Amino acid sequence: MSTLPLLELRDVGKSYGANRVLRGFNLSVQPGEIVSLIGPSGSGKTTALRCMNFLERYDEGEVWIDGQLLGYSGTGRREADRDSEAKVDEVRNPLSMVFQQFDLWPHMSVRENVMAPLVLGKKMPKAQARTLADQALSRVGLSAKADAYPARLSGGQQQRVGIARALAVKPRLMLLDEPTSALDPELVEEVLQVIRSLADDGMTMVMVTHEMSFAAQISDRVVFMEAGQIVESGAPGPLFNAPKTERLQQFLKPWFNRSLTPRAQVTS
Ligand SMILES: Nc1ncnc2c1ncn2[C@@H]1O[C@H](COP(=O)(O)OP(=O)(O)O)[C@@H](O)[C@H]1O
Ligand SMILES: [Mg+2]
Repeated sequence: MSTLPLLELRDVGKSYGANRVLRGFNLSVQPGEIVSLIGPSGSGKTTALRCMNFLERYDEGEVWIDGQLLGYSGTGRREADRDSEAKVDEVRNPLSMVFQQFDLWPHMSVRENVMAPLVLGKKMPKAQARTLADQALSRVGLSAKADAYPARLSGGQQQRVGIARALAVKPRLMLLDEPTSALDPELVEEVLQVIRSLADDGMTMVMVTHEMSFAAQISDRVVFMEAGQIVESGAPGPLFNAPKTERLQQFLKPWFNRSLTPRAQVTS
């Protein structure tokens, strides 16, 4: 494919004080592509995702969204060099994010939560925002819960509201940070199903996940990170079945060693 990438990171780096948590990060995402980020805890996956929409200010390299440089206009990468919030919002407009802990407002109804980015962020008239919110809630199968408060919903339903909120702004690319890791196991599948249906509709996505079989099923590309760097990346088939680096082999081992063999058989 030789179309303009929707998202491109070139040599992106990020430090917290002396701790360089992201370094030399390169990624190019074409429209319609689904990229999964995997790696051990603390490897910088969330930081990478947050740098992609400037929720975190990267301090090395470049992030391009649909041909526009995100966060900076010049070559400087210090706090003083950053663009205005208005400019940042304009450039990252095609993106929206789904958070690990849902981050819903407890004092707002489900519908109001989904409307919030439209009304508060994009200054859209309420009637119009309500229409978009109801469409998004219908898309995730939660029309019946529009007037409920988040505390009345299961974790799986709350995350589907989180997805509806990210969908209502009509993004061209969604960033998802471990969307199912805060959920009880029996609630994971309903959320994965919604994500799968978005993928089937052609949504472009960058997703951090620990759901390896899901990543294998829906991704065009999988990126394995450790210590702030990409160690290995590629199509899911070769990457999961024939990892090249010892580090990825190690990381995947517990996954492939999982066995449902009854205990009696193991010990007999
Ligand atoms: N706001 C922050 N301030 C200081 N250090 C941070 C902050 N956020 C993340 N880190 C550090 O950055 C590293 C990467 O974290 P993170 O991106 O959350 O990893 P992952 O999502 O892969 O678990 C960790 O060492 C973490 O402690
Ligand atoms: Mg994380």
